[in-house]
Amino acid sequence: MTQLQAWLDDPAVAAGLRQAAALFRRSRHAVALVGAGLSAESGIPTYRGAGGVYDRFGEPTIDGWELFTQDPAAWWEAAIAHEAAGSALSAAIDAAAPNPGHYAMADLEHMGRLAHTITQNIDNLHFVAGSRQVTEIHGNRYRVRCIECGARERLETVRLDRLPPTCPSCGGIYKNDVVMFGEPIPRDAIEACYRETLAADLFMTVGTSAVVYPAADFPVLAKRRGAPLIEVNPEETPLSEIADVVIRAPAGVALPALVDLLLVP
Ligand code: APR
Repeated sequence: MTQLQAWLDDPAVAAGLRQAAALFRRSRHAVALVGAGLSAESGIPTYRGAGGVYDRFGEPTIDGWELFTQDPAAWWEAAIAHEAAGSALSAAIDAAAPNPGHYAMADLEHMGRLAHTITQNIDNLHFVAGSRQVTEIHGNRYRVRCIECGARERLETVRLDRLPPTCPSCGGIYKNDVVMFGEPIPRDAIEACYRETLAADLFMTVGTSAVVYPAADFPVLAKRRGAPLIEVNPEETPLSEIADVVIRAPAGVALPALVDLLLVP
């Protein structure tokens, strides 16, 4: 028996999938909140938990945003040097490809079953897999963002011979698009997250520990407004006790199985 089959033969997982499919069939505006767990099966380590990035390399400093605003040129010099030195997380992200979980989320969107994905992941894999209705609340590793007008550009198109790089539209300073601890979530992203959460009649979390805010607020807000809550995560989280459906399986198993159930008329 394959490992996938073993998961799907688990009566609790099978029941959870059937319940989730029934909720998706009734939904007109389903929204998902995604975390690092969705990309774990693409070889990108999660942040928390045994073997996670924070376990292995420690938590990031919380003064990144402050250092950037104090001296953007020096911040860029350090960031370029860090990138040149390479890191296990960057290497894993750059080598990663979408896994069946990413493709299943794109399928749910293309089937009209998933209206929007709020992702905490910076790895761009939702777009590579074909999803388009996506808000990257913590940014994207492959982009820069103007801190004045919010314009975003692909990092590879930005000249770094003069630091800090500046926005050709407004002259503002570019920073990498990845949101640092202490940095405000970009206005367009936070507005999209609240707009979609308030419109949701079904909310699903996938692969998130639900401990970082404001992202962890969205499932609670949707639930409070009457949307059923589905949790896809092999482990318990603070949301488990309020979830209507819990699917204790890897996203790369659960989400394709959910798509298969929804393909049956
Ligand atoms: N499928 C589904 N979930 C999984 C899988 C998997 N294959 N493997 C692990 N998980 C779950 C873990 O059980 C955990 O609950 O994914 C979750 C990962 O949690 P975190 O590492 O905390 O990642 P995330 O929730 O995305 O963190 C949120 O914190 O550090 C910041 O900016 C960072 O965006 C990140 C935010």
